[in-house]
Amino acid sequence: MKFFVDTANINEIKEAQSLGILDGVTTNPSLMAKEGITGKNKIINHYKQICEIVTGDVSAEVIATDFKGIVEEGEELASIHNQIVVKVPMIAEGIKAIKYFSENSIKTNCTLIFSAGQALLAAKAGATYISPFIGRVDDISCDGLELISDIRMIFDNYDFGTEILAASIRNPMHIINCAKIGADVVTTPLKSIKSLLNHPLTDIGLKKFLDDFNKGNK
Ligand code: E4P
Repeated sequence: MKFFVDTANINEIKEAQSLGILDGVTTNPSLMAKEGITGKNKIINHYKQICEIVTGDVSAEVIATDFKGIVEEGEELASIHNQIVVKVPMIAEGIKAIKYFSENSIKTNCTLIFSAGQALLAAKAGATYISPFIGRVDDISCDGLELISDIRMIFDNYDFGTEILAASIRNPMHIINCAKIGADVVTTPLKSIKSLLNHPLTDIGLKKFLDDFNKGNK
């Protein structure tokens, strides 16, 4: 399973990269705004900077919602760097644009997926990734992980090459459960990745090893 970090914060991206387990980055307009990245030039430079830090795919989201606008914006984003994946919303015009991009060798991430039917349409259009938002599904008292399972089954039934990029991850158990189901990728805040490191028995065990070493080497 690939690990992407879901942030536009440069320090967090550097820290995730330094762990040696990072496969890519996802951003969205809200995450960019949170970092104060506004205006076309600043946004493009920010994507360049992220691509220089990581070696994997970097999702850059379009703002346009019409086919022509999505294609123009997506082609411009894709020209920034060969690691850029054009993130396109799950709307009819977005599906048409994903089909166009897939025929023109531009990688895509279909975002704002909340149903298996949406995932199926995006896969048929040739999306490289689809992003089901499991945390937001859980937030409305539905089951985000069940959505991942359903999409996994459908993609396996028909051998779709589209990768399931589980998004809107809220905790380390989301990551574990996505791994059990077989999501291809999780995109997550850095803190959920770091939570995977922790276990009290590791801390107790390490302390005892070091204490015993120090006793023997006085
Ligand atoms: C996905 O690519 C989105 O950026 C993200 O995972 C949304 O997560 P949120 O629901 O925590 O905003």
